[in-house]
Amino acid sequence: MEESLLDLNRLPQHIAVIMDGNGRWAKKQGLMRVRGHEKGTKAVRETVETCAELGVKFLTLYAFSTENWKRPKIEVDTLMKLLVSSLRKELPTLQKHSISLSAVGSLHLLPEKAQRELKEVVELTKNNKNMSLTLALSYGSREELTNAVKLIAEEVVKGDLELDDIQEATINNHLFTKDMPDVDLMIRTSGEHRISNFLLWQIAYAELYFTDVLWPDFRKEDMLAALKNYQDRERRFGKTSEQL
Ligand code: IPE
Ligand code: IPE
Ligand code: MG
Repeated sequence: MEESLLDLNRLPQHIAVIMDGNGRWAKKQGLMRVRGHEKGTKAVRETVETCAELGVKFLTLYAFSTENWKRPKIEVDTLMKLLVSSLRKELPTLQKHSISLSAVGSLHLLPEKAQRELKEVVELTKNNKNMSLTLALSYGSREELTNAVKLIAEEVVKGDLELDDIQEATINNHLFTKDMPDVDLMIRTSGEHRISNFLLWQIAYAELYFTDVLWPDFRKEDMLAALKNYQDRERRFGKTSEQL
């Protein structure tokens, strides 16, 4: 897949990625699952750089779900440690490409050290303008929506918001992703065809792209293939082809 086959004026504004298959990648090599996660960080870097270089404006990566807390403690601990070391290591990459970092999810559940490191990198990159990179950490879409409902209900109870004034935008504005546009393209690696509680509201009209490639093997050419596939589709948003 050649980069020149892409129309850079028709890139998705917001790409979300379910980075799946680290454990199976490791198993295939006869390694421990955590080695797959380690290897996955390289795919993260390459994906971030590819998107930034192409001119994608928003990239959201599913790194740890609310459900992932149920994994064995040793795996959860390793993932958290990997998060801290990656944040440290990738700061120069973020600065080089002028990428701002943010995070969505129940961040207060992360270990102190991870929270601190995250805050620091978010602060250091906040003025970067090229691309907005968001890590979904301890993230669950149902939790996010439940939280939004609570916040909105609170405003109604206090009399700050009329029931009739609750619009789709009201809900949008109470999500963790309130400052981001809707997802245009959602990619999932590893051959699983499911959403696993990621950005349910935000993908209402996203194009879904599934690939069998396991996350640690995901390279620039795989991202380009996903983008080409996206550009070959017709997004009708309910209209007829003729109306577009
Ligand atoms: C994705 O890879 C990484 C996380 C969920 C943190 P997995 O760890 O889910 O890998 P598989 O699906 O078991 O292969
Ligand atoms: C989804 O992957 C979460 C992340 C990639 C962080 P999982 O591997 O946890 O999803 P399921 O359990 O197979 O649906
Ligand atoms: Mg998985």
